[in-house]
Amino acid sequence: MEPALLLSSITKSFPGVIALNDMNFELRSGEIHAICGENGAGKSTLMKVVTGVHAPDSGRLVLFGTEVKISNPLDAFSKGIAIIYQETSLFEEMTVLDNLFLNREIVKKMGPFTVLDYKAMALKMESIFKNLRISISVDEKIKNLGMAQKQMVEIAKALTFESRILILDEPTASLTQQEVDALFAIIRDLRKHGVSIVFISHRLEEIFTLCDRVTVIRDGRYISTREVSATNKDQLVADMVGRNMDNYYPKTGVEIGGELLSVRGLGGRELLHGIDLHVRRGEILGFAGLAGSGRTELAMTLSGFTPPERGEILLDGKPARFKSYREAMERGLVYVTEDRGKYGVIVDMNIKDNIVMPQLEKNSRLGVINTRQEYSVAEAMREKMGIKAPDTDFLVMNLSGGNQQKVSVSKALALNPRILILDEPTRGVDVNAKAEIHRIISNMAASGLTILMISSELPELIGMCDRIYVMKDGTIAGCFNREDFSQEDILHIALASGTANTAQKAAV
Ligand SMILES: Nc1ncnc2c1ncn2[C@@H]1O[C@H](COP(=O)(O)OP(=O)(O)OP(=O)(O)O)[C@@H](O)[C@H]1O
Ligand SMILES: [Mg+2]
Repeated sequence: MEPALLLSSITKSFPGVIALNDMNFELRSGEIHAICGENGAGKSTLMKVVTGVHAPDSGRLVLFGTEVKISNPLDAFSKGIAIIYQETSLFEEMTVLDNLFLNREIVKKMGPFTVLDYKAMALKMESIFKNLRISISVDEKIKNLGMAQKQMVEIAKALTFESRILILDEPTASLTQQEVDALFAIIRDLRKHGVSIVFISHRLEEIFTLCDRVTVIRDGRYISTREVSATNKDQLVADMVGRNMDNYYPKTGVEIGGELLSVRGLGGRELLHGIDLHVRRGEILGFAGLAGSGRTELAMTLSGFTPPERGEILLDGKPARFKSYREAMERGLVYVTEDRGKYGVIVDMNIKDNIVMPQLEKNSRLGVINTRQEYSVAEAMREKMGIKAPDTDFLVMNLSGGNQQKVSVSKALALNPRILILDEPTRGVDVNAKAEIHRIISNMAASGLTILMISSELPELIGMCDRIYVMKDGTIAGCFNREDFSQEDILHIALASGTANTAQKAAV
């Protein structure tokens, strides 16, 4: 059978960067084909060539046997190619229905006028939602939806007009396990109906559960295509990074010091209840739990974003009542957000300005900014974190997703904090850079820094932490020491359908 899509010798360069270099790719009809590669390898760019966002400098695109030129995203869409981007592209203030039919409204004639046919649109959507088992009202505003629901709307949008090719660029980065399972069921169902699917993810386990074949690209070049059933994680990683990697979680043994931070009866905003915890110097402390279990709220409360309503926080044994993020930062407590787009980086600024932004005072004397100092701080971080860019004047919006994440983490590290709170620090980051971030975390702990780390990837917490707290419904539901870590036990507590929350609420 003819391939659904054939790309041959695609080259695409940007000023100073060759993003794709003589790239080849074949998508068979009705298969789920994974693309993997390090941050900045060119995965998103390749897909943007397919969807008409970027015109290639050279190369050929063959769609179901016919050579085509794709001039823009709408053109791609009308040719049956739909994409779900790495960052969602829905309009927050608009309803689900308006988002779904933007630029392709269904209209009807009413006398001399052409008007929007809301009823027809709503009916069409409701049937698609039903097929996908999505229970979201089409009149809901996007801003009221969770990340997973937004992702589902994106998928529904992609399916409205019977796409033959569906591209998913890191769709699972911010989903919980159950949401991932639901998404996979939908994807498998689409395959059954003959849709050809491209799936991009840094989570290799997902490739092994879902995909039929996998193509690895490195530095914009084609490396390999394999049957998933005939390969393994080590082989893929070796293809991706160009060498063998053995140490994914380079945790070093560190002498744990005395108590640094303790929290008693912390609560607030209906989201946190009676939180007790203690943290010792040099410790790497993990927070596991489902989305919505209160982990981010706890981090934001500890770091002064949302001051607590109840309970107390002691730093070095003294009460710490941070009224702002800034105050916490001045006392050496720095938080790295999970929502990179909203608080983490400013995309239309360059790498250097993003990294040095919070430390303007440190690098200036009598109001004069020491630019040279700034560049040297930023350059050191770029090297240490392996941020893929020609120099630190490069705009953050032109970095690949994973490299933007590295800038967000660098910004906090450059402050030399005493306590660092990392919220999903390796989301969207490739295996190699992940190991690099883990190594840096581990070294920082060895030099006396204390780290609180929130992650939805249990293997990461289990690999890196000294202790793990499990959160559920805004409470601490369990705590494990390193020698007792077990993925099963932690999940069991995180998922348990207990009555803890109702009891807590009744007690308040
Ligand atoms: N508009 C642009 N201007 C300049 N450079 C760009 C632009 N878009 C992408 N690049 C560069 O092209 C290269 C490939 O980026 P791309 O986003 O395709 O990587 P990726 O494989 O999707 O990475 P990630 O896993 O981090 O999402 C990177 O070096 C990136 O900085
Ligand atoms: Mg990408």
